[in-house]
Amino acid sequence: MADIFERLVKNYGPLGQHRERACGYFAFPKLEGEIGPHMKFRGKDMIVWSLNNYLGLANHPDIRKVDAEAAAQYGLAAPMGARMMSGNSIYHEQLEKELAEFVGKEDACLLNYGYQGMVSIIDALCSRHDVIVYDAESHACIIDGLRLHPGHRFVYKHNDLEDFEKQMQRASALIEKQNAGGILVITEGVFGMAGDQGKLKEIIALKDKYEFRILVDDAHGFGTLGETGAGAGEAQGVQDEIDLYFSTFAKSMASIGAFVAGDQQIIDYIRYNIRSQIFAKSLPMPYAIGNLKRLEMLRNLPEMRKKLWDNALKLQNGLKERGFDTGNTDTMVTPVYMKGGVEEATAMVMDLRENYNVFCSIVVYPVIPKGHIIYRLIPTAAHTDEDIEITLNAFSKTKQKLDEGAYKGEAIPDMAEAR
Ligand SMILES: Cc1ncc(COP(=O)(O)O)c(C=O)c1O
Repeated sequence: MADIFERLVKNYGPLGQHRERACGYFAFPKLEGEIGPHMKFRGKDMIVWSLNNYLGLANHPDIRKVDAEAAAQYGLAAPMGARMMSGNSIYHEQLEKELAEFVGKEDACLLNYGYQGMVSIIDALCSRHDVIVYDAESHACIIDGLRLHPGHRFVYKHNDLEDFEKQMQRASALIEKQNAGGILVITEGVFGMAGDQGKLKEIIALKDKYEFRILVDDAHGFGTLGETGAGAGEAQGVQDEIDLYFSTFAKSMASIGAFVAGDQQIIDYIRYNIRSQIFAKSLPMPYAIGNLKRLEMLRNLPEMRKKLWDNALKLQNGLKERGFDTGNTDTMVTPVYMKGGVEEATAMVMDLRENYNVFCSIVVYPVIPKGHIIYRLIPTAAHTDEDIEITLNAFSKTKQKLDEGAYKGEAIPDMAEAR
């Protein structure tokens, strides 16, 4: 018989295999100081482009004050127990009511985390005869939710409407054959890696042709897109037609928690059947109170959203003018596509951090195909013109070095912290 632990330490997995050189630098880095575009990394000042603090709320004095007062008054214990049993409060209910109003739905249900919540929503909604049709580039929380689904699922090529229709035809035929079940379509409002919006408008238009319900994960669109910040559905003019709208508080709200909103009867069904909430302690009171404050600011300070967009466009236009490829983004998420090996990518990231004081994250093989590098820059409302200028210059200089082969090395630089 094999020993499970023995197997694990023989192969730490695609990313874990680099841990001896990478830990504390390329993986698990520790950014220090107040959350924002200027933080310290290993004692050096950095311009930080890897936080989803879109609206710059993380460190807003009004929010810090409310968080601190709520923590002083309630601590992390209250309310104790799951919502359904003993862990409910007026603040949790108020937050649900205000969230539902904000995204134009009848009701909302709080979730402790986005990832866990999405997995559990999918589990709660679908029975074995139901068929799920989903976008190929869906976030891990959707993919992992699908693993709990006992019925069939069909994946369509990312944002490809022709393939979407093909999969809908397969799903519809299967349901007809089974003579049971329905179709749930799942997509994202904004795809967090590439920054392109999900084709909500076009998919929803197909409701005339196919029968389905649609669940949208709008983690990145909530608070950043649309006239009022209600998200990708609002931006595309189809918010009312989204059957279930989901977002986390971990991005524009700079907090923890999540919610799903929709028709009152369906949200009530979820409330009484979602295992991640029924069998878990509810969100601590300071989170409920802190999130109420964040939602109030998100509603009342549209200038934060405007500043985010100004910064995003300045960064993206600057990159394009310098010849960088930012792909299909039509949101603030700013990918920069380059070519090079993992070793070159890590050497370049190191150069950016050590010599240009620019901290951003990269995606390399095996997450994406060999020979490709994606930088993922997250502009926020808190970045300055100077931050953008310094970063653009740093990108131009390091890209030139990349093209000249200056980062070609034998191995990933050893930057691990001593343990
Ligand atoms: C699209 C999407 N859905 C869900 C999540 C998970 O949210 P949370 O951090 O609240 O678990 C994320 C965050 O990484 C995300 O980007």
